[in-house]
Amino acid sequence: MSQVNESQILTIGRVLNDQNRPLKERFRALFTLKNIGGPKAIEQIHNCFKDDSALLKHELAYCLGQMQDSRAIPILIETLKDVTQEPMVRHEAGEALGAIGDFSVIPVLEEYSRDSVPEVAETCQLALCLLQWLKSNNDSANLQKSPYMSIDPAPPANIVDVKRLKEILLDENTSLFERYRAMFSLRNIRTPESILALSEGLKVGSALFKHEIAFVLGQLQEEIAVPHLEASLKDTDENEMVRHECAEALGSIATPDCFDILNKYINDSKRVVRESCVIALDMCEYENSSEFQYADTLGKVAA
Ligand SMILES: [Fe+2]
Ligand SMILES: [Fe+2]
Repeated sequence: MSQVNESQILTIGRVLNDQNRPLKERFRALFTLKNIGGPKAIEQIHNCFKDDSALLKHELAYCLGQMQDSRAIPILIETLKDVTQEPMVRHEAGEALGAIGDFSVIPVLEEYSRDSVPEVAETCQLALCLLQWLKSNNDSANLQKSPYMSIDPAPPANIVDVKRLKEILLDENTSLFERYRAMFSLRNIRTPESILALSEGLKVGSALFKHEIAFVLGQLQEEIAVPHLEASLKDTDENEMVRHECAEALGSIATPDCFDILNKYINDSKRVVRESCVIALDMCEYENSSEFQYADTLGKVAA
């Protein structure tokens, strides 16, 4: 997207930062900026961290990590350190620091791997493991993109046996990093058996672990996971970060059932869940349409 000029980036940035715009439009603007990349796009994303939607802010941090641009590091450190930000926002900032793959952030991650918020501490521990893994595998230049075009918080395990991978995934005495590695292998294997193994993970472990399982099930876009995702979304005692990720996964699976389920939670008492359903329904619509791309704000501002 090198032909995008500065004024177009500013226009898209205005959509992102405009609290009077529908949230789904602001999300599409964010993903458009992520695809454009560069310092101007980063600046527009940075401006939005003052917003009051935790959902939107956690996605800002996610996108900054996926862009793998070290110019975003100071913004992400500031967000990780800011205890007035919601746990899911700080979590995503920590994860993004790992995704960029720059070893200079190791001391900060060490400090916050002892944070009092478990989601934040666990995220920083994982990101440290990832950076150490990159170091010892001489792969520091680039974390390999997954088949789903995402930069994952852990590399897949070099194991192909689904039963063994499932054991590791569900074993709470195994390190989180190894369990994540098993998770990404099970995703890449993508058989009904491997997807059901992943679905079981929705019932075991920390909020962080379960939300990542839901994220991966969303990437898989397989209908077989729908009842499991629905069960966690329905469970009002479940952590809102997990329920949020289940809603978004249902949005990317996008069957008529998913549409009905999401419509039921559009007035949930938790803001993050409500907003996730709105975004997920927009994703459902996109998946069921002939729209060329989800991150379409550039086409709209250029027209
Ligand atoms: Fe996350
Ligand atoms: Fe999320």
